[in-house]
Amino acid sequence: MAQSLEQKFVFTGRDFLDLDDYTSEELRYLLDLAIDLKKKQKAGEVYHPLKGKTLGMIFEKSSTRTRVSFEVGMYQLGGHALFLSRNDLQIGRGEPISDTAQVLARYLDGIMIRTFAHTTLTDLAKYANIPVINALTDWSHPCQAMADYQTVLEEKGRLEGLKIAFVGDGNNMAHSLMMGAAKFGMTCAIASPEGYWPADEMTKKSQEVASQTGGHILVTADPKEAIADADIVYTDVWASMGMEEEQKIREKAFAAYQVNEELVRYAKPDYMFLHCLPAHRGEEVSAGVIDGRNSRIFDEAENRLHAQKAIMAAIM
Ligand code: CP
Ligand code: NVA
Repeated sequence: MAQSLEQKFVFTGRDFLDLDDYTSEELRYLLDLAIDLKKKQKAGEVYHPLKGKTLGMIFEKSSTRTRVSFEVGMYQLGGHALFLSRNDLQIGRGEPISDTAQVLARYLDGIMIRTFAHTTLTDLAKYANIPVINALTDWSHPCQAMADYQTVLEEKGRLEGLKIAFVGDGNNMAHSLMMGAAKFGMTCAIASPEGYWPADEMTKKSQEVASQTGGHILVTADPKEAIADADIVYTDVWASMGMEEEQKIREKAFAAYQVNEELVRYAKPDYMFLHCLPAHRGEEVSAGVIDGRNSRIFDEAENRLHAQKAIMAAIM
């Protein structure tokens, strides 16, 4: 599969900064590759396309899933991963990202970064002449969205024509899910309180993409409208990393947006519940829903590993 893929698409050396940098066909190829690599791993097949290669992993925010899945993923692909926290790097003491990028590119074969401002990611990519992967910024979380759509594809057998409802903050997760839905020809309905909607720029870009793929993007303040007949119901924390001081204000603003038993009655009976995690039970989601029979959160978390292995194998 890897060979036929390479004949059709050119991935080598590219960054993975956002889903809009890739065509629908390329993204779909990466999902199929992820499913293929997952099968290989489960069958105990050794696959080492990244033998001798090193990924640097820069973290300016906390992480459980991202750190472990990238590190294990590199190992399984025959390579090595280096954990670089902000406090241990000179960027924490003011070394410019441009210098950091050019230095790291002399040692490494790829860099993964989790940071605050999206411009830190794009600056790193601009100055590092090796592939750079977005492992979450305040703007987007494309690796998570790839794992999410892999999880949906595995269960539903298709993506096109399905409806995903995202109820909660119009944040980085909402942005990447919306663009992914547009790329895959899906309907994406985001319900957030006014003032917490996704950025207009992202909504417009996703709507443009959707108009080419048969998808549909909708933003509303009404959670029932968003969730009506949804195949996938998604939520995320109300206060993302870096917004901790807004927690109390946000709890009030989002009180009517909890995904609970009452709300999911409007979704399709066989809906899948997804959450990127970490979750706050009793806030954005009730325990009954996140721990209930429609929840696929641990398959979703596992797929971070497989989806990112596909991305790394393709671009590195
Ligand atoms: N979903 C996600 O990115 O989890 P971590 O913050 O634990 O990496
Ligand atoms: N929106 C959340 C996602 C965490 C994986 C955050 O940025 O904190």
